[in-house]
Amino acid sequence: MSAAEIATVIDRRYRKFMESLLIKGGVPLHGEVTVSGAKNAVLPIMAATLLTSEPCVIHRVPNLSDVKFMGQILTSLGARVAFAGGTLRIQARKIRGVGDYDLIRRMRGSVCIMGPLLGRLKQATVSLPGGCVIGARPINLHLKGFEALGAKITIACGYVRAAAKQLTGADLFLGGRAGSTVLGTANVMMAATLAEGVTVIESAACEPEVVDLACFLNAMGAQITGAGSPTIAITGVKELHGAEHEVIPDRIEAATYAIAAAATNGEITIKGARPDHLHAVMDKLNAAGVRVERRGADLMICRHGRLKSVDVTTLPYSGFPTDAQAQMMALMTLSPGISIITERIFESRFMHVSELARLGADIEIEGPSAIVKGGKPLSGAPVMASDLRASAALVIAGLAAKGTTQVNRVYHLDRGYENIDRKLRRLGARIERMEET
Ligand code: EPU
Repeated sequence: MSAAEIATVIDRRYRKFMESLLIKGGVPLHGEVTVSGAKNAVLPIMAATLLTSEPCVIHRVPNLSDVKFMGQILTSLGARVAFAGGTLRIQARKIRGVGDYDLIRRMRGSVCIMGPLLGRLKQATVSLPGGCVIGARPINLHLKGFEALGAKITIACGYVRAAAKQLTGADLFLGGRAGSTVLGTANVMMAATLAEGVTVIESAACEPEVVDLACFLNAMGAQITGAGSPTIAITGVKELHGAEHEVIPDRIEAATYAIAAAATNGEITIKGARPDHLHAVMDKLNAAGVRVERRGADLMICRHGRLKSVDVTTLPYSGFPTDAQAQMMALMTLSPGISIITERIFESRFMHVSELARLGADIEIEGPSAIVKGGKPLSGAPVMASDLRASAALVIAGLAAKGTTQVNRVYHLDRGYENIDRKLRRLGARIERMEET
């Protein structure tokens, strides 16, 4: 790359970094919005393509920076990755077992390449993922699972390495202090597909994203049963082959638009969602005075009357998802009364609280709970996004607030929401993307 090309890339990245959303609030959302493919399903599915040398085709892939980033990681491991029109084509004919330190360190979700590398090459070396703004985020349970399959784990110079002469199926318990682990279950499940014999994971994560991964792995020739329940059994096979798969709709994106409609006193139809993945969110919205109607794969959302305060506790699936906690808190700031929102999955996922306060929200943090004294009018202000879901909460609050809200650091949103500004504009929101001033 020439110096001029490097300068252009840096300039483009800097501009992206400096983008913000300008929202003129107070407009009820109306119309239809279509849900994209699920970020948290597609990332492990992309990693799973490392388990075979044959080509894989993945449809309904959202155009997100995290997806591009995972593509770069796979490319750095030797895979060929092409993305066009929502379809990813990946072929990992020949791969190496050592991930690029800086690439992997930048996205926590990339830890799920470890299971496939270990399964196929019997060794995987990646940079040890650190914590992030939402919590410490250890990977001890992933490593416990690999060890149970016979891998030896070593940690040195910032890298974690898992290696085995042969992987052997085992019975293992993957529960931790906050319950099950989503990517831990995905990682161990992927490694076990090519182990000798049967692996049984107890206290496995039941999230729909784990089920979607199991469907893809089974389409590749794996023998997995029980995905979606706390007990998953994997009978190891000699090798996996290429497969084609369509990713499930993003339940958190659907929840975010549903909450945004409720917050703006709007009426929207969410197309192509999976209402059966959204029971806990629909239940809380109903209790909060929001009408939620299922029509096949679509969801109709409209407020009926004043909002009511509800208490929310985040839990592993099928409980209320931690990834919709910040958005729900934004909604509760608008409801007259007190709502207690308790975060049971991540220890510091309240970064949005201080930013919501800039808009006039009255929220106090007491240990794992946030006490929201709702009903005070919100007014627009410049706010800073700290992570993906906190950013979504700020957008929702901005849509409901009087005046103009500027949400800075929009690159967080671009990690997990495809075309969020365009989709909201189609629903009538007055929202523009601009460079930060
Ligand atoms: N945990 C451990 N040890 C481990 C792994 C996890 O103690 O080895 C703890 C975590 O610290 C946390 C809890 O277990 O307290 C659950 O974490 P989990 O492992 O389930 O989280 P994850 O798999 O790393 C995925 C999503 C997150 C989502 C969580 C929970 C992806 C790429 N990420 O993370 O998504 O919040 O599951 O549902 O799938 C987001 O999309 O905004 C996001 C953060």
